[in-house]
Amino acid sequence: MAALLKSDEIAVAADLLRRGHLVAFPTETVYGLGADALNPGAVARVFEAKGRPSFDPLIVHISDWDMLADLVTAITPLERRLMQRCWPGPLTIVMPKSSTVPDLVTAGLPRVGVRWPDHAIAQRLITLAGRPVAAPSANRFGGISPTTAEHVLEQLGDRIDAVIDGGPCRVGLESTVVEVRGDTIVVLRLGGVTVETLSRIAEVEIDVAHVDKLAQSAPGRLSRHYAPATHLTITKDWEQVPAGADVGVLSFRHVPNSERFGQVEILSSSGSLVEAATNFFAALSRLDAAGLRLIVAERFPDEGLGRALNDRLERASRR
Ligand code: TXA
Ligand code: MG
Repeated sequence: MAALLKSDEIAVAADLLRRGHLVAFPTETVYGLGADALNPGAVARVFEAKGRPSFDPLIVHISDWDMLADLVTAITPLERRLMQRCWPGPLTIVMPKSSTVPDLVTAGLPRVGVRWPDHAIAQRLITLAGRPVAAPSANRFGGISPTTAEHVLEQLGDRIDAVIDGGPCRVGLESTVVEVRGDTIVVLRLGGVTVETLSRIAEVEIDVAHVDKLAQSAPGRLSRHYAPATHLTITKDWEQVPAGADVGVLSFRHVPNSERFGQVEILSSSGSLVEAATNFFAALSRLDAAGLRLIVAERFPDEGLGRALNDRLERASRR
């Protein structure tokens, strides 16, 4: 079973990373399953622990500019601007990789996704390890991204060496993944930095089918991500939802006659998308653990973090 480390035991975790072990750690988005990004053996163990197909590239996490310089061959002025505005923070930028980055990290792609997390424990861990840390979200492949150390242990406790407990994650949704094409920011995955924020920096194009293309390049795997084991459907009208003790609901701010349902999760009664994002994956996990027949979720307003939340709901509802 993985060791549960406290926030003052980061040096122990950094030492494990340097020796090629796997350490899950908190970031502002979700918990990551970390390995030394420059050690192909350690990176291979990440895929093994997650049960993740090795063609899906990993994000490399940094904590200073020197680490970035070693990982990429060139940085365009627009990429620089994105870094200045959004780092440290929930933005991953995909850039041409240097020969330092093992091919396994990028799944053979010529580009590497890099992120500077806005979380004191993550930054300290990377700095003490003295090397960039490759980390996918710390869930089993296709499962729900963990936003607490307990959720990491539930999914991966018997497969990794340690997890650092940093409490619940502030943002609660994964980073926005982008690449720069000419003067355009292309969004490959919606996440913690909103399209509205990016639009203030440059023109934005959304190409989220990209993640699906990567996933579908392997036989038998579909774009069903962030998914509970329980069947999930999306509703526009609570009155149309069948009542029942075996039905759970995931609502943004309010459910009329909520006593009709077996379990009710309200993400933000004040209607804050930021608060809803923070609570989203933990609420989905609670519903999934409740032994329900069906989870019914409500769409979010298509703005700000609501877009990324709707993207996660749609993926969770696919079968
Ligand atoms: O917030 C996050 O991004 C979290 C924390 C731990 O940093 N990490 C995370 O990693 O969500 P993961 O592996 O679960 O999702 C990474 C996404 C995938 O959809 C992957 O396809 C895309 O980023 N990605 C990573 N590197 C890429 C690359 N070189 N080219 C294209 N897409 C890439
Ligand atoms: Mg993930």
